[in-house]
This record gives sequence, structure tokens and C-alpha cells, in this order.
Amino acid sequence: MPAVVVMGTQWGDEGKGKIVDYLAEKADVVARYQGGNNAGHTVVVEGKEFKLHLLPSGILYKGKTCVVGNGVVIDPEVMLREIKGMQEKGIDTSGLKVSNRAHVIMPYHRLLDEAEETYRGDHKIGTTKRGIGPCYMDKNSRCGIRVVDLLDEEEFSEKLKRNLEAKNHLLKAVYGVDGFDYETVRKEYLGYAEELRSYVCDTSATLNKAIKNGEKILFEGAQATMLDLDHGTYPYVTSSHPIAGGVCVGAGIGPTKINTVVGVVKAYTTRVGEGPFPTELFDEVGDHIREKGHEYGTTTGRPRRCGWLDACVVGYAGRLSGIDYMAITRLDILDELATLKICVGYKYKGAVMDEFPASLKVLAEVEAVYEELPGWQSDTTSIRDYKDLPLNARRYLERLSEVADIKLGIVSVGPGREQTIIMHEIFE
Ligand code: GDP
Ligand code: IMO
Ligand code: MG
Repeated sequence: MPAVVVMGTQWGDEGKGKIVDYLAEKADVVARYQGGNNAGHTVVVEGKEFKLHLLPSGILYKGKTCVVGNGVVIDPEVMLREIKGMQEKGIDTSGLKVSNRAHVIMPYHRLLDEAEETYRGDHKIGTTKRGIGPCYMDKNSRCGIRVVDLLDEEEFSEKLKRNLEAKNHLLKAVYGVDGFDYETVRKEYLGYAEELRSYVCDTSATLNKAIKNGEKILFEGAQATMLDLDHGTYPYVTSSHPIAGGVCVGAGIGPTKINTVVGVVKAYTTRVGEGPFPTELFDEVGDHIREKGHEYGTTTGRPRRCGWLDACVVGYAGRLSGIDYMAITRLDILDELATLKICVGYKYKGAVMDEFPASLKVLAEVEAVYEELPGWQSDTTSIRDYKDLPLNARRYLERLSEVADIKLGIVSVGPGREQTIIMHEIFE
């Protein structure tokens, strides 16, 4: 039975939450495999808006198993707040399962994230300051604290002591800021441990059992391809692997278990934070998209940088994740534009490039090669059938599919569950 990955193809905020929520109706399990509360997934159900940072979007349906996998970094305070927030809205959270191998975001991770950004000055990454990078750093340098450690008072106390000694020194000596008191942090986190305990298990075992039982699994990516630590616009990336390959490591399932990969593509491009963005718009078209699309971050409220659809980026994402189908979102935001542009290639020093550049210096200097297409200038928000879309909207989508070499699977024309056009059933 199918395991489906839904992941971002651009710089995040493509509408992964909306697509996961739509597909989750038919799924038994929804699982996050990377990232943390740097993610902000907004889902609209019957006009009500839900903002999710750590919990999988499947939580909004009753009776689904929702997994937070080992590849996720967990800020326990944020997770507990999100669980309580959901419960207050009448959402059943009893299906939540949290990996015992996931790493825990500590207060020093958040402070280090902030201090490092200040220290970088003009070279800042524009992180969400949620402690994501420093937590993954500790994971990789093998001094991190995992959920399983948090649940063991003795183990946790000892690891916290060692970490605090090092981190407090680093914070003071390098960044000139005061660190944290051992006993205060210890008490606070042991309190979280008790509240989280009942959700914790070996989620790789849960997922593999579900696969064996023929259940339908949906993997929910956070961030996106261009923010991938290896394949994105390094160093302006996050510290995890949002690409489909990240699922195997971050959820503990084998690659042979993944059946379908859905790449979510915003009908234009946005980016929050720093780093090159070849199709960025600095004119009134960019402002129109930002205002009509309310392009302000769910997590940090920052205005998102807006630009034309970049089919080079989408094609690159397709190749890296073996994307089977695209889910195009926010087509409706372009309804009013008279002409649209799609970037179909990059030129560097006058020559067309064959590959997506690894060098950020090159990426910052490439010239986007555009194709101009006529707009459709009509309201698409109530269309439910692909053939009913205006001809020029179909031409726009089909040109993207051709250039990026990925099939169209879903087109979204509004935030609501019902505002979805299905061209290919993802769960047969
Ligand atoms: P994510 O991080 O990829 O889940 O995306 P975000 O939730 O950060 O940003 C996407 C925003 O677009 C959310 O507010 C969604 O409710 C909204 N959205 C998703 N699909 C559509 C669509 O087709 N049209 C419109 N107008 N909004 C959409
Ligand atoms: P969703 O899941 C958009 C960006 C930050 C910054 C960079 C590194 O909602 O699509 P980090 O805090 O991860 O160390 O920041 O990554 N970023 C996102 N941009 N959507 C996200 O998540 C993002 N999560 C991180 O703005 O540029
Ligand atoms: Mg988002």
C-alpha cells in the first residue's frame, strides 16, 4: 500500500500543509521527518485557520496516527503548547507519536541561534531563531540530547550538565551573553518530559508496522528543496534534509517503501530570509503578489520576497527527489495579472547553463531567461475541474510541466480543502 511523500520544491511556504491536509483524508498515518518549529503550515478547514509548527497536519482529522519522526528537532515547550492549543479547539491529539530518537531543542540552542545571527552581521542567514541550526549541530557533533535521554532523569541531568558547561562558556566567551542555570533548566525540562512521556515511542517501528499492515502513509515535508542542507542554496539553507531522500533517514523507513513523491509548487516563487533568488521581483508586480497573497511568514511574520515562477528550480527539485507529480498551489493569486513570466533557464556570462549552479556567487549573478505568457484575468477560485480553468491558466501550468519535466497531479485555487483540482488520484 502506498507511502506518499509531500515535499516543497522551492524555498518553503508552498502550501505543503494544505496539500497534506487534503490528502490526509485518505491516509491512515501522517508523519513529519525533518525540521522543527521553523516550519509554519497553515491549513484552512471550513473557514477556520489552523497554524501548525511541529505537529503533522493530519492531526486535524480524528483517528489518524500522527508521527513526529526521529529526524525532527523538538522544542518540548512549543510541542506541548501546540498540543494544548489543538485540544482547546476540540482536536483529538491521542494519535500523536513522538520519536524517542528525535533531538531536543534546548534554551541554549535558541540563544545561540540568535547570537550567531548577530555575529554574522551582513552575512546573516535570516534564520527563524528557533534554535534549529544549533540543535542539529549538536546532533552532528554527537553531544545532543534526545527524547529518550530527556525521559531518563539521571541520563538527562548528566547530559545537561556537560552541555551547559560547554555552552555557557561559549555564550560568554564568544558572544558575550550570559548562559543558563543548571537547576532551572533541569526542572523545566523534566516537567516537559512527564507531559510528553505518553506520546513517545519508537516511531520507525510504528511506521514499518503500518506499512506492513497495508496502511496508507503520508510524509509531510517541512521547508523545501532549496533550503536542503546539501542541495539547497548553501549556506542560506536550513540544517536538515527536506528532499524526499530525507524521509528514509528522518523516519526510519527503507527507500523501497516509498511509492509516490508529490512536489508542492507555488504558482510563483517566494523566499524568506537571505540568499540569492534569480527571479525576485522588486517592482509593483512583486508588491501585488505579496499583498494579494498575504505573503508574510507564518512563523516569524516577516514579509516574503516574491518573484516569477522559476521552472529551473522546480526541475532541479524534481530531479533531486524523483518527483512523480506536482501539486501547484496559489494559482488564484495570479488571476489578475495581464502577463506572466516563467524562468526557463539561466544564463551566466552570456552562456546558457546546463546544471543548477552550486556556487552562490554564480547563482547571484545568473540572468533568468524568461518566457512571457498571457494571463487569464478571471477568477479561478471556484473552479473544481481542470478543463474549466481558463485556457491561458492551463497553458501556464502545462508549460511549467514541460520545462520542469514533471506531471501535473493537483492544482489548488484557494486555501480551503474544497478548492482543489485533482488530475491524478495520489492514493489510488
Ligand atoms: P507551507 O509552509 O508549505 O505549508 O505553506 P504556508 O502555510 O506557510 O503558506 C501557504 C499559505 O497559502 C497558507 O496560508 C495556505 O492556507 C495558503 N494556501 C494554500 N494553497 C492555496 C491556494 O491554492 N490559494 C490560496 N489563495 N492560498 C493557498
Ligand atoms: P515551511 O515548512 C520558509 C528559512 C529561514 C532561513 C533559513 C534557515 O513553513 O515551508 P532556520 O531557522 O531553519 O535555521 O532558517 O530557512 N526557513 C523557511 N522558509 N518556510 C519554512 O518552513 C522555513 N523554515 C526555515 O527563513 O532563511
Ligand atoms: Mg510555511
